[in-house]
Amino acid sequence: MFQHVEAYPGDPILSLNEAFGKDPRPNKINLSIGIYFDDAGKIPMLPSVRAAEHKVVADAGARPYLPMEGAANFRTAVQHLLFGADNAAVKAGRVVTIQSVGSSGGLKVGGDFIKRYFPESTMLVSDPTWDNHRAVFEGCGLTVKTYPYYDAATGGLRFDAMLEALKGAEKKSIVLLHACCHNPTGVDLTKAQWQQLVPVLKERELIAFLDLAYQGYGDGIEEDAYAVRLLADEGLSFFVANSFSKSMSLYGERCGALSVVCPDAAQAVNVLGQMKATIRRNYSNPPLHGGQLVARVLTDPELRPMWEAEVVAMRDRIQLMRRKLHDVLSAKLPGRDFSYFLTQHGMFSYTGLTAEQCDRLKEEFGVYLVRSGRMCVAGLNTGNVEATASAIAAVLG
Ligand code: LMR
Repeated sequence: MFQHVEAYPGDPILSLNEAFGKDPRPNKINLSIGIYFDDAGKIPMLPSVRAAEHKVVADAGARPYLPMEGAANFRTAVQHLLFGADNAAVKAGRVVTIQSVGSSGGLKVGGDFIKRYFPESTMLVSDPTWDNHRAVFEGCGLTVKTYPYYDAATGGLRFDAMLEALKGAEKKSIVLLHACCHNPTGVDLTKAQWQQLVPVLKERELIAFLDLAYQGYGDGIEEDAYAVRLLADEGLSFFVANSFSKSMSLYGERCGALSVVCPDAAQAVNVLGQMKATIRRNYSNPPLHGGQLVARVLTDPELRPMWEAEVVAMRDRIQLMRRKLHDVLSAKLPGRDFSYFLTQHGMFSYTGLTAEQCDRLKEEFGVYLVRSGRMCVAGLNTGNVEATASAIAAVLG
């Protein structure tokens, strides 16, 4: 019956993380998956989230289905977090927000919506991008192409080439942009570059689809929403998928959202209606619990500042590890430039290590990086950073 079903080759990130779990070596180091680990190598349960959970559980009653679009308190809290409570587009009822199953769920719902209402549009993603972007959008039936992004020679951004490519894009193409902490490279647009992008988006009638999965890990919770607010203030219509997996350490709860900024409130009503139809066709309605934890943290006057301080601490610890890795590697291999560890943002750095070098790191040293050379620097800690540097020096040397 199922002879024609091919073997699944696995996912480059999730399968590697599973392989790490099965590796019996005690000193193995997981720098593969995009998860923040604390200095003890554990996924933290944030005190603000734990306190929110106590409150949510104490208040919990019956468990009805949520509406297709998710819980109203969660959706409003997300809008205020992303756009600001006083944002003109939010106040005018032009922003539609639905609660999604992780931000991946938001990408999928958005992709299905785009396929239906912009069937001729091509999806343009950065070269490179998160491995799953192409899979999700192709799974929606969209054609996915790339625009230039990462400069392997400098470890920075090919901004001019990116702009030129977008200036030549078909009108109404969808442009997937990482709002902060680019995955996998850690290379972000500056504020000035975002501003330079706006006239190109307008001129070519391009539809931005922002992916904001790492809010707070770049420059700050507010600062990392810069692109979202800029595009809204510029009167653009666009999509933004966001996640609380990393910012609240709620990976398995699958808490995300998809927002669509529309030209007017009447169009927003119809967009919301069709989003609901898309959700119903996909998974009917989102789960209750995680979204209520998020809503509580975001709106509780005691918990909100606690959470903001926790995000600062996670971001600062990553910075410390970036500095430490840079310093140890620079000392071990004085001829080489590792400054990209200091300039790249967020959880990831693109190391330039080849797939074969990553294989050696895994096999000989138990150090797991994605074969693209992406390192999750949030997996470094004071106990493993020296060993990581020694292993990298060995494969580079
Ligand atoms: C990652 O990029 O490692 C994370 O976003 C986890 C995932 O689902 O790929």
